[in-house]
Amino acid sequence: MTPHPLPSFVRVLGIESSCDETSAAVVENGRAILSNVVASQVDLHAKYGGVFPEVASRQHILAIYPIIEEALQQAHLSLNEVDGIAVTRGPGLPGSLVVGVNAAKGLALASEKALIGVNHLEGHLYSAWLYKTEAGPTPEPQFPVLALIVSGGHTELVLISEHLKYQRLGATLDDAAGEAFDKVARLLNLPYPGGPSVQKAAEGGSPFAYNFPRAWLEGTWNFSFSGLKTAVLRQVRALEDPVNSLPVSDLAASFQAAVIDALAMKTIKAAQQYQAKAILVAGGVSANKPLRQSIQIRAEALKVPCHIPPISFCTDNAAMIAAAGYYRLLAGQRDSLDMDVLPNWPLSEV
Ligand code: KG4
Ligand code: ZN
Repeated sequence: MTPHPLPSFVRVLGIESSCDETSAAVVENGRAILSNVVASQVDLHAKYGGVFPEVASRQHILAIYPIIEEALQQAHLSLNEVDGIAVTRGPGLPGSLVVGVNAAKGLALASEKALIGVNHLEGHLYSAWLYKTEAGPTPEPQFPVLALIVSGGHTELVLISEHLKYQRLGATLDDAAGEAFDKVARLLNLPYPGGPSVQKAAEGGSPFAYNFPRAWLEGTWNFSFSGLKTAVLRQVRALEDPVNSLPVSDLAASFQAAVIDALAMKTIKAAQQYQAKAILVAGGVSANKPLRQSIQIRAEALKVPCHIPPISFCTDNAAMIAAAGYYRLLAGQRDSLDMDVLPNWPLSEV
C-alpha cells in the first residue's frame, strides 16, 4: 500500500501501557497536545510496594479502550481523522506492552491508519518537544542534543545528532536512578512510589548530614547506584535503635544529593565534550525538583539551553509516544500489523 502524502496538520494518536500507567493522547505535528489522558495504577500497586505485573496488565485491559475514546473525545476527533497510531512497543513489562500494542493494531486495522511502534525511551526524549496548546509553543531543542534519560528502569546519556538518530554514550551498570530512589524509599519506610516520597522527606533534611559515595566511573559516561544504595542500607542498620527513630529526612537528603551530583556532573561534562547545543533531561526522575534545579543552574553557567519538560510530561504518558510517532511518520516509517512487542528493546537499536 503506498502511503498517502501527509497533510499540513498531522494528528497522531499515541498509546502507552509499558508499566503502570494506561495512557492515550492526540498530538498535532509532534508538538501540540490536543489531549493527554493518563490513568495511573499507583493506588493498586501501593499495597505491594512496587508494580505487580499481573495486576498491571489486567488493569490495562480494563482501561485501554475507555482511555483511547476519552483522548479522541477531548481532542474533538474521530479515529478516522487521525493520521497515524503510535504505540509503545518496548522496553517495558511484556504483559503490559502487549495490551497497548494489540489495541493499536486493532484500531489500525479497522481504520486503515498507519501503525507506528515507538521505543519508550525515545518517547521520553520527545516529551521535551511537547507543549500545551493553551500555553503556546516552547523553543525546540537544537541539535546536537545531549540527553539524560532517568526513569524507573533506565539511566542513560544519549547524544541526539538529529531527529531519530541516537547514540548511547553511557548507562547505569546496575540500578537505574529511579530504582535507587524506590529501593531507598523502602529502606526508609517511605510510601510507594519512592521517588516523590524521598524528595518530600529530603525537604526537611540536610544533604551534608551523611557523606554517601558518588561512583564517578572516570573516563566513561556510565553510572552506578548500587554502592550508594548499600551505603544507605549500612547507615540505616548502624542508626537503628529501639528508642530513637531514624533521621529519615537527613538520610533522604544526603542520598538524593549523591544521586543528583553524579547525574548532573556527568550530563554537563558530556554536553561540554560533545559541544551540545541543548541539554535535555527526561524520564520519571526528571520530575525531581532539586535535580532539575541542579542541571538548570549548571547548564546556565555553560550557556547551553536546558530543556526539562513540565513535571506532568516527565512520568509515563502517551503524548510523548505520539510526538515520537509523528517524527517517525514524517520520516516515512510505518510498522506492519504483525509487529510484536520488544520488552528489552534498547534505544541504540531503534
Ligand atoms: O518514566 P517513569 O514514569 O517510568 C519508567 O519508565 O520507569 O519513571 C518512574 C520512576 C520511578 O522510579 C519513580 O520513583 C521516579 O520515576 N520518580 C521520581 C520522582 N517522580 C518519579 N524520582 C525522584 N524524584 C521524583 N520527584
Ligand atoms: Zn517511562
